[in-house]
Amino acid sequence: MSRSGGSSWFLLILPLIFSTICGATDTINTDEIIRDGETLVSPGGKFELGFFSPGNSSNRYVGMWFKNITEMTVVWVANRESPLTDTSGVLTVTPPGILVILNATNGTVWSSNTSIAVKNPVAQLLGSGNLVIRDEKEKDPDNFLWQSFDYPTDTFLPGMSLGWNFVTGRENYLSSWKSNDNPATGEFSFHLDPTGYPQLLIKRGSAVQNRFGPWNGIRFPGPPNPRDDPTYKLSFEMDDKKVYFKSDIIDVSFVSRYTMNLSGVSQRWTWVDRTRGWVIYFSIPSDICDNYKLCGAYGSCNVGGSPSCECLDHRFVPKEPEGWVRADWSNGCVRRANLSCQDDVFLKYSGIKLPDARNSWHNNTMTLDECRLECLKNCSCMAYTQLDTRRESGCLIWYEELVDIRSMSADGLVMYVRMASSEAEVKNAAESKGKKREILIASLVSVVGIVVLVLLSLYVCYIWKRKRNDLKTRKDQGTSFDVDHEKHSDLPFFDLSVILKATDQFSSSNKLGEGGFGPVYKGMLKGGQEIAVKRLSKESSQGLDELKNEFIFIAKLQHRNLVKLLGCCIQGDESMLVYEYMPNKSLDVFLFDQTKSMLLDWQKRFNIINGIARGLLYLHEDSRLRIIHRDLKASNILLDSEMNPKISDFGLARSFGGNETEAQTRRVVGTYGYMSPEYAVDGLFSVKSDVFSFGVLVLEIVSGKKNRGFTHSEHGLNLLGHAWQLEKEGRSLEVADPTLDIDFQTAEVLRSIQVGLLCVQQNPEDRPNMSSVVFMLRNEAESGEIPQARQPGFFTQRDVITRQNSNSMKANSTNEITITMPEPR
Ligand SMILES: *[C@@H]1O[C@H](CO)[C@@H](O)[C@H](O)[C@H]1NC(C)=O
Ligand SMILES: *[C@@H]1O[C@H](CO)[C@@H](O)[C@H](O)[C@H]1NC(C)=O
Ligand SMILES: *[C@@H]1O[C@H](CO)[C@@H](O)[C@H](O)[C@H]1NC(C)=O
Ligand SMILES: *[C@@H]1O[C@H](CO)[C@@H](O)[C@H](O)[C@H]1NC(C)=O
Ligand SMILES: *[C@@H]1O[C@H](CO)[C@@H](O)[C@H](O)[C@H]1NC(C)=O
Ligand SMILES: *[C@@H]1O[C@H](CO)[C@@H](O)[C@H](O)[C@H]1NC(C)=O
Ligand SMILES: *[C@@H]1O[C@H](CO)[C@@H](O)[C@H](O)[C@H]1NC(C)=O
Ligand SMILES: *[C@@H]1O[C@H](CO)[C@@H](O)[C@H](O)[C@H]1NC(C)=O
Ligand SMILES: *[C@@H]1O[C@H](CO)[C@@H](O)[C@H](O)[C@H]1NC(C)=O
Repeated sequence: MSRSGGSSWFLLILPLIFSTICGATDTINTDEIIRDGETLVSPGGKFELGFFSPGNSSNRYVGMWFKNITEMTVVWVANRESPLTDTSGVLTVTPPGILVILNATNGTVWSSNTSIAVKNPVAQLLGSGNLVIRDEKEKDPDNFLWQSFDYPTDTFLPGMSLGWNFVTGRENYLSSWKSNDNPATGEFSFHLDPTGYPQLLIKRGSAVQNRFGPWNGIRFPGPPNPRDDPTYKLSFEMDDKKVYFKSDIIDVSFVSRYTMNLSGVSQRWTWVDRTRGWVIYFSIPSDICDNYKLCGAYGSCNVGGSPSCECLDHRFVPKEPEGWVRADWSNGCVRRANLSCQDDVFLKYSGIKLPDARNSWHNNTMTLDECRLECLKNCSCMAYTQLDTRRESGCLIWYEELVDIRSMSADGLVMYVRMASSEAEVKNAAESKGKKREILIASLVSVVGIVVLVLLSLYVCYIWKRKRNDLKTRKDQGTSFDVDHEKHSDLPFFDLSVILKATDQFSSSNKLGEGGFGPVYKGMLKGGQEIAVKRLSKESSQGLDELKNEFIFIAKLQHRNLVKLLGCCIQGDESMLVYEYMPNKSLDVFLFDQTKSMLLDWQKRFNIINGIARGLLYLHEDSRLRIIHRDLKASNILLDSEMNPKISDFGLARSFGGNETEAQTRRVVGTYGYMSPEYAVDGLFSVKSDVFSFGVLVLEIVSGKKNRGFTHSEHGLNLLGHAWQLEKEGRSLEVADPTLDIDFQTAEVLRSIQVGLLCVQQNPEDRPNMSSVVFMLRNEAESGEIPQARQPGFFTQRDVITRQNSNSMKANSTNEITITMPEPR
């Protein structure tokens, strides 16, 4: 099975130390031949070279395979186009250094293309699986006359390079076999294409099938993400003489290979063990969006999207809308506003796979600004970007139409696309409006805010006093009053005796739970109407303020997604609010209970999300008083008999005049896991801090998990961080509660997750307002329009704790925390 060459035994001492271990040699010289049945074995014993027959063929080929692997896995074939028909072939090295395969009549069946002559040529199989020809006396171990790594077949081994030598004009590329029985060059090939700027291309014949890149200084961005491949170290070399992509293995004991299979799928394989065999580490193409140019020019492919293709954004329209609806996206999109060339602008698009760079130009040292000017100079320049994201330098500009773009939440890149100046005006207007509003806020918060608060307090005092007096008078007179008598007031006052009767003397069997400022009881009025009674506990110092607060607000609010206040009762030292009774209690009761959560199917959950959104929209924008709830959480969402959500607990709510959007408080009160960073840390609250809490709620509803206390075994992220991570990896659906059956509603689920993530973004300005949220949730067709969320606030558990510990903090049993902040500036 193996052979050792007679006279060279003693000349080749070093390699033979390895060889003797395996009982085989790795080297032959001009006097030696390898016959069919004999083999060379690489030092270390990983690879073996010899004659073989592929599949069911009887033809003989010289090839290389893994020696120590039970499954015959050929990684290289010498004479792939010219097989031997019998077993009489031999392999040898002829002077001045050509590797040849000879047939029975000593005819050359195949030969290496060695162009340099040396005196003592030897062929040696190296430990990496590289078969080389070199001079026996040559000291430089890397000086080869020829190497099989320059002539790969369908397999890329660690240590190989893919690319071009511009001096010799030779390209190293992979090509598939013709069939399992025939290793001749097949249809598919895998190239490093140096046109424009280097990219990896999979081709069928001469047609591009898939594309990865351009190289961004670290890797060729595109799913799958080779950054996550711990076994390889990728490198890229490019100058006038050559362009090569190389991958070196980090742990040489690892057995892995990268192949181009018969049907055009390239795969990275890893040998696990005898029982599991070869396992695919990743495959390219991996999804529909890997199809080259699927969405045409300025189209963007989105794996989760239905349909998969959409225009880059609303500034583009399908070129042929009829084709577009038939799922023929090949004509792509066009700008809705034509370019003028002279005064165009550039708009930023991020989270994408950069377009095909074969028609591009680059410079390694230019700054981004120089890059923009360069692009502006030429009317056919359509976009530019930073070339090297690692060094943050260089310039890459694209000419003509931009094709083969896909949205990529993980590893997505940024490019600046040339647009008509009219498209920018909209954005700039919005920006300057934003600026103005900021200034306005600053002044309004200080002036109007105070005025409103003062007026509000006066108003509170006024009714409170009036009612108290009213009550006092009646009480003094010894008369109880009932609902009817209070017709003219905003809200009825209940008599304590009515409440006592309804709740059976506040019997513990009627206790529904513990709210922010005291227990809540169920009751039934004489007419049979069920009520919930919030009773202020006597220990609660802040409770009375909160109760008043709630009374003021909720009395003025009417919306089907807000809990309805029926009245109140203040008598002696008892203070109570009376609500309509919600038979299904609160959302947390269902959501975080393993069995009850099953009752919440997706339709119900989506309905709940939408209901809360509408309720909040009403509070923020449509109600008479603009109200910030400040304590939105699952336990404050009550559910009626049909599982419609109703926002409750306005104890912490604050009202604002029409123009204000933000204020600061010294007393930060809210609930762990739902508080936005700017509120918890700086005491800044705005409608956007409610939006944050809403986002947390949405993610909780989708996942069925609490943000607070959520920990994932693989990383230290909380629910927000986890969801964001998955979204970046394009695996959003994994966030969803595994008990949900969402096969037919993936679009809604994905939309909800996207919206949730937008709402919990770190920066309040990035978060949408509730009207956009309601719009995004509802608008099915526009799902692709939802922008990509940036990093969420408080996305690691530790983040929360350390930030909060830096403030003095008190926590009470109901999970609420109070942080006393320094005096605002
Ligand atoms: C060959 O494989 C066996 C078992 O898979 C392993 O124990 C042995 O070390 C391997 N030998 C070499 C030279 O890799
Ligand atoms: C060889 O032929 C047999 C029978 O025709 C078939 O089942 C088998 O898959 C073939 N093997 C290969 C590698 O093509
Ligand atoms: C082929 O070459 C070998 C060695 O040079 C020689 O011994 C043999 O006779 C040759 N065979 C034929 C058929 O010429
Ligand atoms: C050996 O190869 C030569 C050259 O390729 C060819 O002419 C000859 O017919 C082959 N002989 C056999 C027995 O295949
Ligand atoms: C050897 O090189 C020549 C030109 O240099 C080329 O035409 C030929 O195809 C090459 N042969 C092989 C087997 O690579
Ligand atoms: C190539 O790989 C893909 C993905 O693993 C597989 O579905 C396909 O059958 C393979 N093609 C062949 C001809 O083995
Ligand atoms: C944009 O340009 C195209 C072709 O140059 C023209 O047909 C079209 O009417 C132009 N559209 C607008 C809005 O000017
Ligand atoms: C790249 O840009 C820099 C600065 O503009 C310039 O000095 C340099 O010559 C350019 N290099 C190439 C190759 O164009
Ligand atoms: C703009 O770029 C294209 C593509 O490289 C080139 O053909 C054309 O000559 C350039 N035009 C100008 C004015 O530089």
